[in-house]
Amino acid sequence: MRTEESKTASTILYSILIFLTFIKVEARNYKQVCSSSSCGEINNISYPFRLRGDPSGCGDPDYELSCVNNKTILEIFPGKYYVKNISYEDQVLRLVDVNFANANRSCSLPSGSVENTDGFVQDFRFKGVLDSLGSRFRFVKCSRNISSLQEAANHTTIPCLTRNGSYVYAVYDGEYSYYNPQPSCSVVSLAPVDLLHDINYKFPSYEAVMELLEAGFFVGWSLECRDCSLAGKSCVVKSWDKPLTYICERENKELTRSQGNLIIAGIVVGGLIALLVIIGILVFFVRKYRTRRNASSSTEKN
Ligand SMILES: *[C@@H]1O[C@H](CO)[C@@H](O)[C@H](O)[C@H]1NC(C)=O
Ligand SMILES: *[C@@H]1O[C@H](CO)[C@@H](O)[C@H](O)[C@H]1NC(C)=O
Ligand SMILES: *[C@@H]1O[C@H](CO)[C@@H](O)[C@H](O)[C@H]1NC(C)=O
Ligand SMILES: *[C@@H]1O[C@H](CO)[C@@H](O)[C@H](O)[C@H]1NC(C)=O
Ligand SMILES: *[C@@H]1O[C@H](CO)[C@@H](O)[C@H](O)[C@H]1NC(C)=O
Ligand SMILES: *[C@@H]1O[C@H](CO)[C@@H](O)[C@H](O)[C@H]1NC(C)=O
Ligand SMILES: *[C@@H]1O[C@H](CO)[C@@H](O)[C@H](O)[C@H]1NC(C)=O
Repeated sequence: MRTEESKTASTILYSILIFLTFIKVEARNYKQVCSSSSCGEINNISYPFRLRGDPSGCGDPDYELSCVNNKTILEIFPGKYYVKNISYEDQVLRLVDVNFANANRSCSLPSGSVENTDGFVQDFRFKGVLDSLGSRFRFVKCSRNISSLQEAANHTTIPCLTRNGSYVYAVYDGEYSYYNPQPSCSVVSLAPVDLLHDINYKFPSYEAVMELLEAGFFVGWSLECRDCSLAGKSCVVKSWDKPLTYICERENKELTRSQGNLIIAGIVVGGLIALLVIIGILVFFVRKYRTRRNASSSTEKN
């Protein structure tokens, strides 16, 4: 009777186990079942990327692209970029801001800001602007015409954005240098471009600026880095050679006050417990010693 019961139990357990393994295998196979999607010239959209409208479970929702008029679009908060190429081997995308794309020389500022003012990619799904390490145009808006200033020689006027009382310039920045805008000017946007080795590009013409922006830039992606960021750690680029490698580091966060108090409370409570234990042990031994002495003295008396 007992063995019968345990047999039944183990059979049920086995079934559950097999069922679970099956589900796992199914889930893993599902990824491979998805065929790659295609949009215009990008005919190889596959994991981790997915095209909006693909069956759920195909690709990673964090890496969703959309297809508009046969153009593949990536939205990196809050900008819109045409995807010109996907290299799965190197884990890089070639992007062109829709505002600077060919047929759309509408003359505008970048559609968003891929990088923050320190030049780091702002989106946790993407890290590292390749081949354009520290290479970008800063768009600055000034309240006065600074074109004639000697210090503003590297400021290229963007005529169509410049109005009386508001002057917009593009400044090429080839290094990760701290950019101190002219008085009366402030940085309004940043657009990465490929690293230029030609020193003349420090003072490019408006046409040259537009051509560079139209050519676009590379951005790297990494699921490991995404997961790292989601886990509250910081992900930094370890090697800029393609494919980029990253290290995930625990962020050196300062303890909050309540966390500090909690630790102190823990130490205090732990110390008290340890003290009580030590006292307990002492009392125990002292008592044992006394009873032994009492016992021996009573035998002496006898
Ligand atoms: C498409 O991408 C896969 C990797 O995701 C790669 O193995 C394959 O060679 C690519 N095909 C083309 C035509 O680029
Ligand atoms: C997109 O491309 C397909 C085939 O390449 C073509 O049939 C279709 O008309 C195109 N659509 C648009 C909106 O250009
Ligand atoms: C993407 O880049 C690879 C290598 O740089 C190149 O071989 C391929 O032709 C490019 N694909 C497109 C659609 O531009
Ligand atoms: C031009 O830019 C606007 C605004 O960014 C965008 O909505 C539109 O799709 C672009 N058009 C083309 C042809 O790229
Ligand atoms: C700014 O000044 C420069 C030189 O002084 C001049 O050529 C240019 O037309 C001025 N720009 C505007 C928008 O007034
Ligand atoms: C632009 O030129 C000024 C003066 O020549 C210089 O101080 C500044 O660093 C330059 N800015 C950039 C981004 O190269
Ligand atoms: C620019 O604005 C100033 C005052 O705001 C005015 O005196 C000047 O005539 C304006 N110039 C043009 C070209 O509109």
